[in-house]
Amino acid sequence: MALALDRVGVAFGGFQALNDVSLTVAPGQVVGLIGPNGAGKTTCVNTLTGFQRPSTGRVLLGGRDVSRLAAPAMRRAGVARTFQAGRLFAGLDVLDNLACTGVGLGLRRARAEHEAEALMDWMGIRALQSRGAAGLPYTDERRVAIARALMGAPRFLLLDEPAAGMSDPEAADLAALIRRIATERGIGCLLIEHNVGLVLSVCADVVVLDGGQVIEHGDRAAILASRAVRAAYLGTAEVAA
Ligand SMILES: Nc1ncnc2c1ncn2[C@@H]1O[C@H](COP(=O)(O)OP(=O)(O)OP(=O)(O)O)[C@@H](O)[C@H]1O
Ligand SMILES: [Mg+2]
Repeated sequence: MALALDRVGVAFGGFQALNDVSLTVAPGQVVGLIGPNGAGKTTCVNTLTGFQRPSTGRVLLGGRDVSRLAAPAMRRAGVARTFQAGRLFAGLDVLDNLACTGVGLGLRRARAEHEAEALMDWMGIRALQSRGAAGLPYTDERRVAIARALMGAPRFLLLDEPAAGMSDPEAADLAALIRRIATERGIGCLLIEHNVGLVLSVCADVVVLDGGQVIEHGDRAAILASRAVRAAYLGTAEVAA
């Protein structure tokens, strides 16, 4: 029951943002997706969630071709995401941010509120429930965005730079949360992060993109040993071993 890109290409006009990209996220697994700015990471997430249709190749959910499903249908099928910018409903408090998402997914209001409360308890953010989303500190905003994505019990969660701007201790807390999401809820996660240390601490499996192509795929040791990865990050092919 995996979520996958199968040889996906995405072209914007004449520009090839993704080229022959394959990656798979299994239930309960956290896959890391790293790469320099403009590598195509967000485009992968957009394609996996129905925000972007692949030009070539397929998006697979449990082996089924879902390439033509739009974003709301992908969400209902159990593929949730967060955005690089929080995108909470600014005029609503935290409880309503979660509950409205549940209602949008077809839950009755009371049921959605109940699920929202249980989720806030599980994440340890219940104290935030009456706070306006617009005034939240950055790290709380990120947590609420994750809580909102967890409404409706998705099977997959795609996190687009959730630790951006966080301190090391805050990022470590976030890493612990992501591990719990995978292990306790069985959700398959795709973690996009510029903080490579964070990715390597959470993910057994890491995909490295550069220029729209997968340049490396493997475990922590393989990524650390990869000359291609170092070259991509340092911007030179002449990296000493
Ligand atoms: N809608 C679009 N139209 C045209 N070009 C786009 C579009 N979306 C993305 N691109 C281009 O595709 C490439 C990949 O973009 P993408 O946002 O996926 O990169 P990224 O790896 O997420 O980068 P960052 O680390 O900066 O978030 C970039 O060159 C970007 O300018
Ligand atoms: Mg991005």
